[in-house]
Amino acid sequence: MSTFFAPETMRTDRFVLRSWMPGDGAALREASVSSYEHLRPWLGWAVEDEPIEVAEARVRRFRARWLLNEDYVVGIWSPDGQRVLGGTGFHLRDGFGWADGVAEIGMWIRGSEANQGLGTAVLSAMLSWGFTEWPWQRLSWHCDARNVASRRVAEHVGMPLEGTLHGEPAHDGRGRRETMVFGLTRDAHAARAVS
Ligand SMILES: CC(C)(COP(=O)(O)OP(=O)(O)OC[C@H]1O[C@@H](n2cnc3c(N)ncnc32)[C@H](O)[C@@H]1OP(=O)(O)O)[C@@H](O)C(=O)NCCC(=O)NCCS
Repeated sequence: MSTFFAPETMRTDRFVLRSWMPGDGAALREASVSSYEHLRPWLGWAVEDEPIEVAEARVRRFRARWLLNEDYVVGIWSPDGQRVLGGTGFHLRDGFGWADGVAEIGMWIRGSEANQGLGTAVLSAMLSWGFTEWPWQRLSWHCDARNVASRRVAEHVGMPLEGTLHGEPAHDGRGRRETMVFGLTRDAHAARAVS
């Protein structure tokens, strides 16, 4: 298998998408801890507080896994690169590697920036970036059916709903949830761009 060098950065007028780097831990911690109440209902990793060293170890692990082509966790930064607006990523699931061409997009937007169209803009950018500079043939978005904002974002960018998975474990490990799966292929995305 040939070596894959993942694209590092995408810029728009509103945000910069890039790999987390050593040294980003404090900024990640500030954004995620201040968003705790917003994230807690939907994301199992959200914590009320986190020592900076733990956050720093987290970004270093993200970077290591990026370089090893194991997972691609992306920071969403303000255009001047000073403030974390959230996080996203191309996540490899079900034992697939980058060469299989399938990934799941995840996302969180910091509480103070939510509900202002940013999640929709970032998902749209991730699809464009993912189907041009990255080798993805298929990108998916999975959301708890009760998570209206997440569902709305997928609908806004025109990812078709492919189905609903019943009885999946809820993110907190307690109870079950319905998971809506949205998906788009590279060909369908390209066809939409020319039509
Ligand atoms: C889901 C998330 C990424 C969306 O990002 P965002 O920047 O808030 O999204 P946008 O502002 O682009 O769009 C949100 C849409 O949901 C709607 N919405 C938000 N909360 C809602 C609610 N409780 N009920 C109904 N609609 C709601 C908004 O009105 C908007 O739709 P509209 O443009 O048609 O009015 C963000 O809210 C978030 O980080 N949530 C917590 C973590 C999470 O759930 N991640 C996704 C896991 S799959």
